[in-house]
Amino acid sequence: MKTIFSGVQPTGVITLGNYIGAFRQFVELQNEEDCIFCIVDQHAITVQQNPDDLKQAIRSLAATYIASGIDPEKSTLFIQSEVPAHAQAGWIMQCVSYIGELERMTQFKDKSEGAEGVSAALLTYPPLMAADILLYNTDIVPVGEDQKQHLELTRDLAERFNSRYGKVLTIPAVRIPKNGARIKSLQDPLKKMSKSDPNKKATISILDTPKEIEKKIKSAVTDSEGVVKFDVENKPGVSNLLIIESSLGGLSISELETKYEGLGYGAFKAGVAETVNNHLAGIQQRYHELIDSPELDSILDQGAEKANAIASTTLKKMEAAMGLGRRR
Ligand code: TYM
Repeated sequence: MKTIFSGVQPTGVITLGNYIGAFRQFVELQNEEDCIFCIVDQHAITVQQNPDDLKQAIRSLAATYIASGIDPEKSTLFIQSEVPAHAQAGWIMQCVSYIGELERMTQFKDKSEGAEGVSAALLTYPPLMAADILLYNTDIVPVGEDQKQHLELTRDLAERFNSRYGKVLTIPAVRIPKNGARIKSLQDPLKKMSKSDPNKKATISILDTPKEIEKKIKSAVTDSEGVVKFDVENKPGVSNLLIIESSLGGLSISELETKYEGLGYGAFKAGVAETVNNHLAGIQQRYHELIDSPELDSILDQGAEKANAIASTTLKKMEAAMGLGRRR
C-alpha cells in the first residue's frame, strides 16, 4: 500500500473548488491506500486570524472531511498543531531552503504583492508544507493544480536533505485530478475559485443553501453565444460550469453538451444548480449531525495519536542524521 498525505487550511468554509480538486480525490484513494489527512491550522496563521473564527473553522473542516466521505476507520484525520513534530521538522526544512527559491513561489508573490505587514511565515510556508508531507514517508500527495509548485519544491528539499545527510526522506509524487484541477471563479472564469475571494458571488461554499447556490450559478459569468459547448479558451465560463456538473453528476462533458443542445443558458444553469444541490444535500446533512458531536472529538484524538507516532519517528531520524542533540 502506498502512503497518501494531504492537507487543507481551516480558513473560511470549504468551496466547491476545494471539494472537487481535493476532497473527491481523498475519498477515491482511501479504499486502496493508506491515507493521512491534516487540518493545517499552523498554515492558516501565516495571515492574522480571529481566534474564535479559527477554532470554529478547524471544527468545521474536520466535520467537512468526514461528511465528504472520509472514513475514520480507513483514514487518519488530525489537526497539525496537535502534532508538534510538524513545527520542529518545519524548522529543519527552512534550514535546507534558500530564500531565492521561496521568493519565487507564485503563491507568495500573489499574497505578498502590495500587501502591508507581510509575515515572515508567508515566505517560509512551503518548508512547513514540505515537513507535513515528509514526516509521513508519503508516496503520493493529492492536491489541486495550485499546489503543484509547492510539491516540486518539497521534492527538491527532500532530495537536498538526503544528499547532505543520507537517505532519510521519501520523495513524494503529486496527484492532480484530470478534471477539476482548477475550478474557476463564477464571476471571473479566468481566476481560480478561492475561499478568500471577497466577492461572495464568485464562490460556492459546500454549506450554501440550495437557494444561494441557484442564485450564484444563475449570475455566473458566461458569454453571449447561448451555446453550451466545452471550449476552455473561448468559453471559459460555460466550460467551468460543465466541469462542475460533470464532476458532481454522473455524466461526461460530451454527454452534458448533448443534454443541453438547443437549450439556452437559463436551462443550462438551472440544470447545473440542480446537480450541485443534489450532490451536496447528503454532505450537508451529515455535516450538521457531526459538527457538535463528541464523535468528532474522538476521531481527532485518535488521529492525533496515530499521526504523532509516525511523525515523531521520522523527526528523530532527521535530527539524528543532522547531528542535532545527543542521539545517534
Ligand atoms: P488550500 O487549503 O488552499 O486548498 C485545499 C485543497 O483544495 C485545492 N483547491 C482547488 N482545487 C481545484 N480548484 C480550485 N479552485 C481549488 N482551490 C483549492 C488545493 O489545491 C488543495 O489541494 N498549501 C495547501 C495546504 C497544505 C497541504 C500540505 C496540502 C499544507 N500542507 C501538505 C498538501 C500537503 C493549501 O493552502 O491548500
